[in-house]
Amino acid sequence: MKRIELKESEYIVMPAKILEARMMTAQEKYFKIALEEGISLDHEPGQFVMISLLGIGEAPISISSSPTKRSYFELVVRNAGKVTNALHKMEAGDSLGIRGPFGRGFPVQILEGNDLLFVAGGLGIVPLRSLINFVIDNRRDFGKVHILLGCKKPADLLFANEIKEWGKRLDVNFNCTVDKADPDWKGNIGLITSLIPGVNLNPKRTFAVVVGPPIMYKFVLIEILKKQIPEKQIYVSLERHMKCGIGKCGHCQIAQYYCCKDGPVFSYDQIKGNPEAL
Ligand SMILES: Cc1cc2nc3c(=O)[nH]c(=O)nc-3n(C[C@H](O)[C@H](O)[C@H](O)COP(=O)(O)OP(=O)(O)OC[C@H]3O[C@@H](n4cnc5c(N)ncnc54)[C@H](O)[C@@H]3O)c2cc1C
Ligand code: FES
Repeated sequence: MKRIELKESEYIVMPAKILEARMMTAQEKYFKIALEEGISLDHEPGQFVMISLLGIGEAPISISSSPTKRSYFELVVRNAGKVTNALHKMEAGDSLGIRGPFGRGFPVQILEGNDLLFVAGGLGIVPLRSLINFVIDNRRDFGKVHILLGCKKPADLLFANEIKEWGKRLDVNFNCTVDKADPDWKGNIGLITSLIPGVNLNPKRTFAVVVGPPIMYKFVLIEILKKQIPEKQIYVSLERHMKCGIGKCGHCQIAQYYCCKDGPVFSYDQIKGNPEAL
């Protein structure tokens, strides 16, 4: 696939087209997007793009698809304000601008050959799905895989059909929970922390990857540390207000780090004890 010199500048907005758009839940909309002229985004799992809407503004959004899908990329956007509201009004065939991909993603090369514990809460499944599908597409390069998902209620579950397929795989240990069930829900009920004690893992060779809302980190990390997984084998992806996305404006600063450039993925030993981070 053709690469373009334009991508060499992180300031330049690349034209892109929406191939598919649909509401996934009451608040979240799915977008399948391709850069124009057949350019590949070439991202790493855990990176984000800046969505740029002319005359409206920019917003950082995680890339949800695996880099193994090279002709398009997928986003899931919650309607939160100016840019995301305008994006929600867009449909297949509409054009938009993309800068990126940006940020330090999940350390795929370090994870290779090891067992993995994925923990996602709420919208956290959006960036983590990129890594999970990358691992599934390269399954022989990784050891045991445990996936734990949690959300408030069954109607909030994103990618429900795809998640069902993960659950059916014999080479993945999968568990999902909701805080509050409805009459059709057959799975677990309770907070995601309740799933962690039941995971049978070897802490020496397990790397944990946690993505979710800030309130979830504190309690999930306590449970993961109880499993004796070393701190440098635990990764989290953080979210901060961003403007430039490339380490120039300082909007996303967490102590000595710029979340956009040094993160959004950090190892726990990098940010532990930093009240601005967790
Ligand atoms: C690395 C990264 C990845 C992200 N990935 C996704 C994603 O995959 N899907 C998704 O729906 N959202 C994601 N977000 C959040 C998304 O960027 C914000 O919701 C968006 O920027 C809001 O822009 P807006 O113009 O629509 O809202 P605005 O009009 O700017 O603001 C609306 C409200 O949201 C608040 N807000 C704005 N930005 C943030 C923020 N970063 N964190 C918390 N509150 C904020 C504002 O204070 C205001 O109350 C991500 C953010 C980061 C930093
Ligand atoms: S968003 Fe500008 S420095 Fe991170």
